[in-house]
Amino acid sequence: MGKTVLAYSGGLDTTASIGWIKEKYGDDVITVTVDVGQQEDFKEIEERAYSAGSLKHYIIDAKEEFAKNFILMSIKANGLYEKKYPLATALARPLIVMKAVEVAKKEQASSIAHGSTGKGNDQVRFEITIKALYPQANAYSPVREWNMNREEELEYVKKKGIPIKVSKSEFSIDENLWGRSIESGRLEDPWTEPPEEAFAWTSSQKSAPDSPEYVEIEFEHGVPVALNGKREDLVSLIKNLNLIAGKHGVGRVDHLEDRVVGIKSREVYECPAASVLLAAHEDLEKMTLTKSILWFKENVGQQWSTLVYEGLWADPLRNSLEAFIDSTQAAVTGSVRLKLFKGQQSIVGRKSPNSLYRKQLSTYSSMSTFDQKQAVGFINLWGLQTLVYREVNGW
Ligand code: ARG
Repeated sequence: MGKTVLAYSGGLDTTASIGWIKEKYGDDVITVTVDVGQQEDFKEIEERAYSAGSLKHYIIDAKEEFAKNFILMSIKANGLYEKKYPLATALARPLIVMKAVEVAKKEQASSIAHGSTGKGNDQVRFEITIKALYPQANAYSPVREWNMNREEELEYVKKKGIPIKVSKSEFSIDENLWGRSIESGRLEDPWTEPPEEAFAWTSSQKSAPDSPEYVEIEFEHGVPVALNGKREDLVSLIKNLNLIAGKHGVGRVDHLEDRVVGIKSREVYECPAASVLLAAHEDLEKMTLTKSILWFKENVGQQWSTLVYEGLWADPLRNSLEAFIDSTQAAVTGSVRLKLFKGQQSIVGRKSPNSLYRKQLSTYSSMSTFDQKQAVGFINLWGLQTLVYREVNGW
């Protein structure tokens, strides 16, 4: 009889997995729930794990690690997959694996299981990271192996007398500090507007406050350090911003997304803090970095986001991209001011001690120090090759 460490969310899939692993493989099951900021009752999850047959349950608070070692790099990278998705679910997976592997090594478990289906990205993220950190372990997903549908899973869990609060929700939800991912149900029709019931963190435009609210984010070397003039650690800054921006309906994303397994899927997200922080950070970079860095870094950030999305957290390319990204952040210090109103966020101001913006250069007033006469020679040289081409080939 061996041991399996199961990454346990407390939901139906992973709850049914406990009994299934014991029956099918005769393994003892050790459950690990990692707190990455999901709004859950962890006591209740623990009780459910034990009543479903877990031998030993671990609850690991990894919020700070999640913010410092995962979310922060994503902010510095302006991390959006396909320019839309702030990677909340994708970022948490490698951290959950790290914690499960720690437990597996400690408990001398030879297998690590997770609750992903065979159609998504998460199985890829979980298993590549497990194999990279603990090559001897056997990584598997019960949900992918059994052929129970939701009703049969429910029946299976009920038969075992496990108390599970089955949400009547048609949606599949994954939640952490950086955002809430919503899939399935009516959302599977990409033409259907997401119904209000899909949302939990953000107000609708209609119910959002009738007057705007301003927020000011201060960054030091690319790190958000203060909200509205008050210094806060990253976890509480993100939590507070989720509440403030969520109240104004900011951070809803409706995305037709390319999964790594080739499927196109309709994904809906709520990510108020991510939405504000990514926009503010990118804006401050525009004030403090040169055009050449900005343009090159945009590609690096997209590469980084794709790598993370596609489950290759373990790939050394990530370390190399991060070395570059980090090297650009020294000057990214300053503040950005945004206006939140009825589902919209607008950047309305920015300032920095490292600003490359010079009013005496850009101004149209008589204060200008820019020598316009030099523009004549510049234009002649700048267009030289283009003009020779047109002379030779016509228009
Ligand atoms: N499409 C997102 C991703 O792959 C979110 C997946 C969310 N999972 C869920 N069970 N709702 O990162």
